[in-house]
Amino acid sequence: MVTGMALRAERIVKNYPGVQALKSVDFDLRRGEVHALVGQNGAGKSTLVEIIAGSVSYDSGDIHIGDQKHTYLDPSRSIELGIQTVHQENQLVEEITVAENIFLYDLPRTRYGFVNLRSCIQAADVLLQELGIDVEPGKKISSLSFVDKKLISIAKAFSRKARILILDEPTASLDEQGRNALFSLIRRYTSLGLSTIYISHHLSEIFEIADRVTVLKDGQRVSTKAIGETSLHTIVPEMIGRSSQSLYVRDKKGRQTLEQGSLLQIVDFHREGVVDHVSFSVRAGEVYGIAGLVGAGRTELAQLVFGVDRSDHGSLLLDGKDITAGSPFNAVDEGIGFLTEDRKDSGLVLIQPVYENITLVRFVKEIKKKVKSLLNLAKEQDDARTVVQQLDIRTPTVSQKVINLSGGNQQKVVLGKWLFADSEIIIFDEPTVGIDVGSKSEIYKLIEKLADDGKFIIIISSDNPELVSVCDTVGVMRFGRLVAELRGDQMTEEQIVKHSLGVSVIKEPEL
Ligand SMILES: Nc1ncnc2c1ncn2[C@@H]1O[C@H](COP(=O)(O)OP(=O)(O)OP(=O)(O)O)[C@@H](O)[C@H]1O
Ligand SMILES: [Mg+2]
Repeated sequence: MVTGMALRAERIVKNYPGVQALKSVDFDLRRGEVHALVGQNGAGKSTLVEIIAGSVSYDSGDIHIGDQKHTYLDPSRSIELGIQTVHQENQLVEEITVAENIFLYDLPRTRYGFVNLRSCIQAADVLLQELGIDVEPGKKISSLSFVDKKLISIAKAFSRKARILILDEPTASLDEQGRNALFSLIRRYTSLGLSTIYISHHLSEIFEIADRVTVLKDGQRVSTKAIGETSLHTIVPEMIGRSSQSLYVRDKKGRQTLEQGSLLQIVDFHREGVVDHVSFSVRAGEVYGIAGLVGAGRTELAQLVFGVDRSDHGSLLLDGKDITAGSPFNAVDEGIGFLTEDRKDSGLVLIQPVYENITLVRFVKEIKKKVKSLLNLAKEQDDARTVVQQLDIRTPTVSQKVINLSGGNQQKVVLGKWLFADSEIIIFDEPTVGIDVGSKSEIYKLIEKLADDGKFIIIISSDNPELVSVCDTVGVMRFGRLVAELRGDQMTEEQIVKHSLGVSVIKEPEL
């Protein structure tokens, strides 16, 4: 057992224009512990760890690392002190090998100063074996799966002799297998004295991996407790200021009327090597979930339906009428909305204010339909304010640039955009990744309301409990194929996992 303090932050204050991100926060980290940091979107979690990592400056307070006090940190200083951060988004260099990425900052050289790729690969091989990561060190990063990239980012942090590892929502896009691999890696290193700060909105994970948990709310510390001395029922109210009983539970009674109503048919979508002849139907008012492991072809299917990628064939029929979209523009025209998984790349205009992002699609549609609407700034902002309130988007004003919002609040802006776009068919790809428990519950209520209004809802999610609680039907994909459709009593987490892993690949009989 390793003892002692790895880090102590005292009275940390950080202000942004219009926002007090941290109001005198205390936080400490013991050697060899996993200390979880939880709180609502915008509570100040990323700000605190970015201050520790030296990438954000702080207004006042002290940070003790080991036995030294620091009133100022910068990224290289923090790295020297053994602090390594694994960011949510991939920061590896795609076009070079795994081995070169791991040793990017001190590549072994030949006598003539060239990179010695052979010894680099050998060293990486030793490290990866030691970490139990089954990835070929000579492969290019671009050829790896998302999960393997994440594991390589962590291996890289370890290779740089991290004493403090910061993981900001590391499992946000991982499925169960990826999460297990990550956890066993953390446990292994913790036992050797590595300390980890772990940020996650999956509160159940905290109980699996953390030794202590600190709750932040509105830039203040609410509590720090040993994991054995707290519970979900204590943490949730501390985070969101109301009890966990108030969280979303869908009442599925009275949803048996789905046999009637308009029918959307996804017919035989296929793209060689990616999506394998997928067909299913959704009734107006139905919430249809798509489960599966990362890489099962779910996002790719959505991209075909939305016209982002060309399909070899496949058509979309609404009550028999062909509405197959040739392009996203076309899709929006046909009343299809697509909330993408990759928000930063395709979902938001980061340097534009919140209100413009929210009202964008709707206005494009109205202009195309030649609806007489002069762009009315006051109305645009008013409409955006309603959405901001509905989704509890934490921003000083609707004129704030999206880039200045916390990760989860950015996510809510994209969601707001599609809710406001008034589409008949909405495809949500991982709608609640990075979103706190309280807001998740509000989002589920909005999705339910959309369904009650007769929209067609398709939700892709790696969060199986989420699918079970929100959907009427769950289709499971594996290797590009739809291998099962689960309804009623069959729709359980266990069944979803079983079919995702291919323990059983028989399509369930239609109910
Ligand atoms: N560069 C910035 N300019 C202005 N405000 C900012 C900036 N960065 C963060 N903030 C604000 O500081 C507050 C704390 O943000 P932070 O990113 O730390 O939240 P978080 O707890 O990590 O939330 P999430 O769970 O959504 O990631 C938020 O209100 C956010 O809008
Ligand atoms: Mg954050």
